[in-house]
Amino acid sequence: MCGIVGYIGNKQAAPILLDGLSKLEYRGYDSAGIAVYNGEKIDMVKSKGRLKVLDELTHGGETLPGTVGIGHTRWATHGSPSDKNAHPHFNKDNSIVVVHNGIIENYLKLKKKLEKKGYKFVSETDTEVVAHLLDYYYNGNPLQAVTKIMHRMEGSYALGIIFQDHPDELYAVRKDSPLIVGHTDGGNIIASDVPAVLKYTRNVFFIENEEIVRMTRDTMEFFTVDEEPIEKESVKIDWDINAAEKGGYEHFMLKEMYEQPKAITDTFSPRLKDGNIVIEELNMSDEDIKAIKKIMIVACGSAYHTGITSKYVFEDMARLPVEVDLASEFRYRRPILEEGTLVIVISQSGETADTLAALRESQELGAKVLGIVNVVGSSIAREADNVMYTWAGPEIAVATTKAYSAQLIALYLLAMKFAYVRGMVDASEMEELIRDMKALPAQVEMLLNNKGKIQRFANRYLAAKDVFFIGRGIDYAISLEGSLKLKEISYIHSEAYAAGELKHGTISLIEEGTLVAAVLTQRDLYKKMISNMVEVGTRGAFVLAVTNEGNVEVERAADYVIYIPETNKYFTNSLAIIPLQLFGYYIAIGRGCDVDKPRNLAKSVTVE
Ligand code: M6R
Repeated sequence: MCGIVGYIGNKQAAPILLDGLSKLEYRGYDSAGIAVYNGEKIDMVKSKGRLKVLDELTHGGETLPGTVGIGHTRWATHGSPSDKNAHPHFNKDNSIVVVHNGIIENYLKLKKKLEKKGYKFVSETDTEVVAHLLDYYYNGNPLQAVTKIMHRMEGSYALGIIFQDHPDELYAVRKDSPLIVGHTDGGNIIASDVPAVLKYTRNVFFIENEEIVRMTRDTMEFFTVDEEPIEKESVKIDWDINAAEKGGYEHFMLKEMYEQPKAITDTFSPRLKDGNIVIEELNMSDEDIKAIKKIMIVACGSAYHTGITSKYVFEDMARLPVEVDLASEFRYRRPILEEGTLVIVISQSGETADTLAALRESQELGAKVLGIVNVVGSSIAREADNVMYTWAGPEIAVATTKAYSAQLIALYLLAMKFAYVRGMVDASEMEELIRDMKALPAQVEMLLNNKGKIQRFANRYLAAKDVFFIGRGIDYAISLEGSLKLKEISYIHSEAYAAGELKHGTISLIEEGTLVAAVLTQRDLYKKMISNMVEVGTRGAFVLAVTNEGNVEVERAADYVIYIPETNKYFTNSLAIIPLQLFGYYIAIGRGCDVDKPRNLAKSVTVE
């Protein structure tokens, strides 16, 4: 995730910027840069790679003298990781410089308009639009220019800005991307996250949406987007550096679970336009979409589970046949890819060796490959014919949560688009689906906030030996992921079964007290599922049910029920997975496991 640090004061800015950025390294980044006003003009150094490179290039900041500056670590979104895409970004005559976290959703539109007015772009980023837009509106009054661009930009942003002809001021502004400011001994500091400022101050101001800060060496003023002054209270931060890195959460996994509403919103919102789904990066006309005869989805682990969910969604909603395969199987089985098959590979890291090999194999067989990838510029993103990014931001915990949720959204969007183009969903159905999708972030948040109930339940099962997850249809796919979450971090043996398979062998494993988690979100399968629950219950299983609000019928077959809010039948995975993630998490911490780094596992599996 990108990181911002800015400083204005009596000390040299560059070493403070480098130090602050180093405290944000844990968040993941691919390039870094700093810009400092040297008394005459703004100097800038930026580079792809680790902060160490920037540190060497600037001799620890010595080659950039000056007491006002901004710095940035970039996690690529628009444009690959490179020197030119690294922040900061200048306006046309290098007199305004900007660092940015977030995504400017209407940047292409703004870019086109600016290009018509003669602005030249040197990077592929959305951020460069901000620098040129400021230039366009700037008439000597920085505050006014900032408020004007806020009215033009859609999306999320935290910005640090320096105007060369106002060198005693530093500006910062935010919308839907965090930003804090604080007084330090002899100056003021801005940052995207607490760890960057802890060494300098423990009293910070949290900037709220659409608030602007104007700082000098000794003053700090806050304004609304209408340039009205605002009074703000500082907050004392008691966290140590470890807690601060995790945003105050106990583990990265918990923090990332809490980032799911944002990951979901960031993934759908740039693709919902005027009641339609626009996925420009697909590079497919309606005719191309209509020509698709079959979808072949290939992935590993949790990404494979999102593929299985989407099989049910694509087939039911778009009436398109879908095959899903594990990349490690696909690559060695001489797959048959008939003409008209679209291959979709799904990967958070974009570096999973088997998935990459499956992509190459598909291309050799003549198929077009669409990558659904989280890490911009990763191998899969580079090699796929087209890439649809999930905007989950960097995921640090080995057990995926927010990237998984973002992958589901990307797949729902594709299914909706294909269904619409193929005439399987009409405008009013699309409107409802979009409405339901927009409701998901708040519903996920609500489920996360009910974590206490799951924690209490999990504490009763810390000594469990085997846990089975059962479901039918999409609920089987949810069960697969719920089971993986539990076993990979708690080391409790767990399996997921299609509930109808129980009688074909698995039911012999059920004994007194065995925990069975039953997922039932598909109304037309309630009855069948309840029968399966009764079957295991009568053999002594303790049955935990995850089901839709209102399905009280389930209570006759379950010992404990967790209800999820109402959504349509396709999106239930996005909600039902939340209690299951929490369940795995609380069992694991109750057993004293290292949830963020489970034994024997790596975040990115780059070898076979
Ligand atoms: O980076 P990828 O999405 O390609 O990784 C695939 C799997 O290794 C990954 O989903 C793994 O199963 C997760 N750590 C599970 O939480």
